[in-house]
Amino acid sequence: MSIIFDDKVKTITLQTKNTTYQMKIDRQGVLLHTYYGEKTDDTDKSYMICYRDRGFSGNPYEVGRIDRTYSLDILPQEYSCFGTGDYRISALKVKNADGSRTSCLLYESCEIREGKYSLPGLPAAYGTKEEAQTLTVTLRDCETGLKVCLYFGVFEEQDIITRAVKIINEGEGAVMLQKAASLSMDWQTGDYEWLTFYGRHTMERNLERSRIMHGVQSVGSVRGTSSHQHNPFIMVCDGSTTEEQGDCYGFSFVYSGEFLMEVEKDQMDQTRLVCGIHPENFEWKLESGESFVTPEIMMAYGKGFGSVSRIFHQMIREHICRGEWKHKRRPVLINNWEGTYFHFTGDKLEAIAREAADLGVELFVMDDGWFGKRDDDASGLGDWYPNEEKLGCTLKELGERIMALGMQFGIWFEPEGISEDSDLYRAHPDWAVAVPGRKPGLSRNQLVLDFSREDVQDYMIRRLKEILHNAPISYIKWDFNRSICDKYSRALPQERQGEMAHRFVLGLYRVLEELTKTFPHILLEGCSGGGGRFDAGMLYYTPQIWCSDNTDAIERLQIQYGTSFGYPVSAMGAHVSAVPNHQTGRVTPLSTRGCVAMAGTFGYELDVNRMTAAEREEVRSQIEMFKKHYDLIQYGEYYRLSSPVEGSATVWEMVSSDGGEALVSAVYHHVRSNPVPVYVKLGGLREDSMYRLELTGVPEERTLPINSKEHFFRQGHLVSGAALMHCGLMVPEALNGFQAWQIYLRAQSCSTVQASMSLS
Ligand code: GLA
Repeated sequence: MSIIFDDKVKTITLQTKNTTYQMKIDRQGVLLHTYYGEKTDDTDKSYMICYRDRGFSGNPYEVGRIDRTYSLDILPQEYSCFGTGDYRISALKVKNADGSRTSCLLYESCEIREGKYSLPGLPAAYGTKEEAQTLTVTLRDCETGLKVCLYFGVFEEQDIITRAVKIINEGEGAVMLQKAASLSMDWQTGDYEWLTFYGRHTMERNLERSRIMHGVQSVGSVRGTSSHQHNPFIMVCDGSTTEEQGDCYGFSFVYSGEFLMEVEKDQMDQTRLVCGIHPENFEWKLESGESFVTPEIMMAYGKGFGSVSRIFHQMIREHICRGEWKHKRRPVLINNWEGTYFHFTGDKLEAIAREAADLGVELFVMDDGWFGKRDDDASGLGDWYPNEEKLGCTLKELGERIMALGMQFGIWFEPEGISEDSDLYRAHPDWAVAVPGRKPGLSRNQLVLDFSREDVQDYMIRRLKEILHNAPISYIKWDFNRSICDKYSRALPQERQGEMAHRFVLGLYRVLEELTKTFPHILLEGCSGGGGRFDAGMLYYTPQIWCSDNTDAIERLQIQYGTSFGYPVSAMGAHVSAVPNHQTGRVTPLSTRGCVAMAGTFGYELDVNRMTAAEREEVRSQIEMFKKHYDLIQYGEYYRLSSPVEGSATVWEMVSSDGGEALVSAVYHHVRSNPVPVYVKLGGLREDSMYRLELTGVPEERTLPINSKEHFFRQGHLVSGAALMHCGLMVPEALNGFQAWQIYLRAQSCSTVQASMSLS
């Protein structure tokens, strides 16, 4: 039983395999938060709370004259409210019917049930009765009638607790929600740091570790999407936490729109975290009887960043990603974007596909430029009708030509975008997001289609279904190439304009839900100028997301490293592209580009016809290698062994859950003369097994210096798991700039070990 309600002491304890979370209903009826962290028992932890009269931290009226030590300004709470004398950041702010902004929530009831709650219209982790339990704690503001249900989903095996909130107006007049966060979390003790992932277009999710100082710090997005600039995944940790040890908490917002994650260290050195929809663009009207449901947030606690990342990897793979593609082998793809940009014909695409098919590529993706008038980014968005003149055939025929090569066929869409120069805009100028009377801001020459409108959603569902029914399409790249400004919807009344940004995301989710239900065989890949909408919300619909428009292998090390803190390899779209790289001009070896793209949903993005015969053969063997180790790469436990911004090599490891095999990849991001050797300690192996180490992916003709460390691998030495994990492994030296090594390890059976010992 993972949820325990102790009616005598009024505690509610959530237990997962390795963690405990506890709350307590105190004598005033306030729902306190008493503990989250390493697993312990379910005894009352409220003895840790220090009650003391603190100047200028007031007291609720009921206790004020008798107990000045009781103050909401100090107490750790489950869902903090604005206006009650808790001056820290709050989770809920409501403009009540009388114009006041105070809410005081007190405990009313709680309910425990088997299985995981779901959230209508929103993505959320799912779990059967065997996998998850749901706790609903109901709070109420007795003065206004506002009811707040706190949902907790407990995934015991996964070590994940989810949270979401439903707010119901059971009062008489309409109220305005001005802030409705999904989570508020208090730590009474500890001195914390937090890991955030900032970035920009083509350089997403850079890790930043900062101390949580007195006052408020935050990351978020007001761009309509989760954004390139900040990611809705963070970690909070102890100052001493490393990859493998130390207290670490992870928080992943299952939402693709505007978000805010705030931390505050208060006057008593306590830390509060509040996460949810960004309140700046948000105001939601609740008429009497209406309700609002917040998006969900997932949280995990573990020792070290690595273990918390691995919890999220598994959680996203098993309880967020859905449908046929959850466990189905994803095809190795080739995308024509960097190969041709907008300049292609059906014949040119077929020629690329033919060569790629011969090398083992399984899916051909036709990117931007196949529809309407679209030879650059100035026109055509919204006209989702194939340009048969450009293709030289119908979409169906092109799909069939690709399939005749033994490949699947996929295409690119950007349904939320609209060009002013498009038939759709000319027919429905009011469908574009704009403030009446003002010229809307442009970005990449385009406007935004108002997905908050039901008629727009219906139109797009119809249009996309027609295309998908009429051509043999088995993959969609769903792109969105700008941030949203001028947020206003002509379909909403004046007092509901603050709902537009969230309704836009709900509209997007509705369209995606409808398509994934109707075409379960189609694999969707999310994209937003690369990784501008890389979040657990999108992964509910699109099990993979194009990680970045930056395909430079060396910069990708950093982008994929940052992304790996919150998201699994199976979610990260990664391609081998041509050199000099189109974003940086850098030249890296093909083997390095292959090695880096194999830390994602492997594919190619170049014109294979422009490669030399030797390069093509190398591509063939890369694909063979990826297919051979597919399960290990996509489902293995992921270990970050070194950082791309320190030292000279970035090293990571994928190891099978039973520790039987592992693939270690190392890329030299900084080559030095007379180099200091790179040592890493592996993870997840069996202490007492012997492993054979094999260097893979090294082109045959490359001769190795006789004193090279590679010799060690060539001689087929056996090394114990304990040695590899505690003493470490020396990465072979770089033979050229940006060298990559892939080392495959397999645990040997006892007889092999004995035979090899008797030989040596
Ligand atoms: C975005 C995507 C690219 C490509 C272009 C097409 O930038 O991230 O991969 O699809 O759009 O316009």
